Amino acid sequence: MGKKIEARENIHLYPESIFIDGSPWKGRWHEAFGRKAPLHLDIGMGFGRFLVQLAFEKPEENFLGIERHPHRVLDAFQAAQLKGIDNVRFLCGEVALHLSDAFDEGEIDNISLLFPDPWPEGKKIKHRLTFPPLVERYHHLLKPGGSVTFRSDHPRMAEYSQNVFLRQGFEISKISEEGFAQRIHTDFELRYLAEGKTIHAFDARKEKD
Ligand SMILES: C[S@@+](CC[C@H](N)C(=O)[O-])C[C@H]1O[C@@H](n2cnc3c(N)ncnc32)[C@H](O)[C@@H]1O
Repeated sequence: MGKKIEARENIHLYPESIFIDGSPWKGRWHEAFGRKAPLHLDIGMGFGRFLVQLAFEKPEENFLGIERHPHRVLDAFQAAQLKGIDNVRFLCGEVALHLSDAFDEGEIDNISLLFPDPWPEGKKIKHRLTFPPLVERYHHLLKPGGSVTFRSDHPRMAEYSQNVFLRQGFEISKISEEGFAQRIHTDFELRYLAEGKTIHAFDARKEKD
């Protein structure tokens, strides 16, 4: 059996860590982690290198990765197990669906949106994870003062996304050189850096009350 087909079956084997339906946890994600702690969402986490390492480095926070591909979710779950950490959970499926029914307003402390697919401008632009209705949703779900960390190897995608966040009322700050050097790289970022690509990064912060 192929890895991807096998993963579609095996994704159901870990119901305490990997969720297909997030709606039962709406407004009470802390119960899925067994404790109250700041909640960080990694949207389109891929194979989860960034998420698992950040969860390892910040044991005081709860981390939740969203990803549509079951084999990527299972890889990330296994990486978390190998590290022996228990502060990371996974939501498998479509971002827009999960964001519409699995969270209360202001339930999320921080979001990472790293190397989202740069769908071309035109009809497909609505698939971008920074298409305005989704960014509006991020704004709604973040706590006041919460932020979205964005990175892309694609200059037009970065410029487009920054403008959408600005229009939604987020405050933008660029990542410093020092911040760049110290940060945890994602799987895709390592690939792009090896190809000599420039990384475009910013933080978008929701206003405090
Ligand atoms: C280019 S990869 C980046 C992965 C990871 N953030 C990294 O930097 O290594 C984009 C990821 O987002 C996921 N993704 C894109 N659109 C999605 C959607 N609408 N719902 C769920 N996952 C999505 C893809 O399956 C893919 O794993």
